[in-house]
Amino acid sequence: MKDIILNDLKQYGQEHLFTFWDSLSDAEQRELLDQIQSIDFALIARLYEHRNTPAESLTLADRASDPPAYKFSTVTDQTPCKPRKPVSVEEAVSAGNDVLRRGKVGVILVAGGQGTRLGFPHPKGMYPIAPVSEATLFQFHFEKVLAASQRYGYHIPYCIMTSSATHHETVDFLEQKNYFGLRKEDVFIFCQGTMPAVSLETGKVLLDSKGGIALSPDGHGGMLAAIARKNENGISVLDCLRQRGIEYLFYNQVDNPLVRICSPEFLGYHLLSGSESTSQVIRKRFPTDKVGNIVEVDGRLYVIEYSDLPEEVARKTNSDGSLKIWAGSIAVHLFNASLLDRTSKIATSLPFHIARKKVPFVDLATGERIKPDKENAIKFERFIFDLLPSADNAVVVEVDPPNHYAPLKNASGSPSDSPETVKRDLAAMYADWLRKADAVVVAETPVEISPLFADSPETVRQKIEKGTVFNTPTYLKSSTQ
Ligand code: UTP
Repeated sequence: MKDIILNDLKQYGQEHLFTFWDSLSDAEQRELLDQIQSIDFALIARLYEHRNTPAESLTLADRASDPPAYKFSTVTDQTPCKPRKPVSVEEAVSAGNDVLRRGKVGVILVAGGQGTRLGFPHPKGMYPIAPVSEATLFQFHFEKVLAASQRYGYHIPYCIMTSSATHHETVDFLEQKNYFGLRKEDVFIFCQGTMPAVSLETGKVLLDSKGGIALSPDGHGGMLAAIARKNENGISVLDCLRQRGIEYLFYNQVDNPLVRICSPEFLGYHLLSGSESTSQVIRKRFPTDKVGNIVEVDGRLYVIEYSDLPEEVARKTNSDGSLKIWAGSIAVHLFNASLLDRTSKIATSLPFHIARKKVPFVDLATGERIKPDKENAIKFERFIFDLLPSADNAVVVEVDPPNHYAPLKNASGSPSDSPETVKRDLAAMYADWLRKADAVVVAETPVEISPLFADSPETVRQKIEKGTVFNTPTYLKSSTQ
């Protein structure tokens, strides 16, 4: 077996992966063979060869204009958007509620990232982020799905993508927490694929140990292949969703506890504009804001990363002075299940992106593990937003960060997207909901509302008596919690 594989590897100049073969135990040898067999070396060779080919988005920037867009009802900024066709808030909410009542919506959470910037030694979903209760990111998300299931009267299927970096701990944690009240059979945990890191200089796959390849998750875009991958019984997550009659999938990332999962208004814009893919965006604060730019080119939507958007294009303005390229993606999407099904069958639906990184590796001459101090490797990742150009009639919905977006990215003490800023933003949003319900929240008093108590200002109003005063840290939860 080993000799056949070795011959194969020679074709691609990757035979060094067997350098330490004789020093490995039987189990380690089996593990190494498994890893090698999981890699598409022809693909790696192609990707390395094209490592300097400019991203397609660079050629798009000159032709880019603003995408068709709707404004979510909580947005106060008045800059006009151009909708694909006019849809009122009431029409959107009503259409969204209708498909939810008919049980047509499922939810996907991607939680396979390594969370390197945060530096938390567990999957990011296990981070205790709530300002009062210290509930984890997972708890927020699961309770939102449970709240929506209760409101709309069906068991919303909840698909959780993990990676080799997060899978086992996530599975154990969720089981131990009893899926925060969801039924186990409604939670579909599936693991994304991996890609090897290669040497920047030679394209050779790096060893992380003498018997192990330097592998990492293949990016959140790995969701597309992973959700369509058949298990040992020949059934994929997409098949399970289809069997349940799911037609729409709400997609979000684990790091943003403000996300409004299954918002009927968001769903409604998607449905009534005939879109196959709808994305939430925030208005860029300045031309070079570090967000992915959603733009329209020749009737299709694309994301141009901030690093790929030439400054002269970023600075273009409309006659009212507003930015032409204004829509920053916050990685919340709605996909038609049929779009995921169709594109998952096409291997090239999502391109691989190349990232130059510092990746520890085993020195082949000495067997020593080296931690490089400068970029030495290329990692290959797919991004889910590259699905947008494949979608018919794609649109965006502008949302406001205070009500929708506070991602946990950076370590404690960082000026933005840190545990402190996310807790602050959560507490500020809940205080705002309570004040809208005519309660009094004394300044600086942290307040928190479980999604099972209320998941919008409207539901808070139904449950809080006018004039209630909050002057000590308070966690409002449902009576069954
Ligand atoms: P980020 O790109 O912010 O990465 O992921 P990260 O892992 O959270 O953090 P850093 O960059 O290492 O510091 C955005 C979302 O995509 C998911 C993450 O779990 C997060 O929800 N993701 C990312 C995956 O599910 N798989 C991946 O391979 C990468």
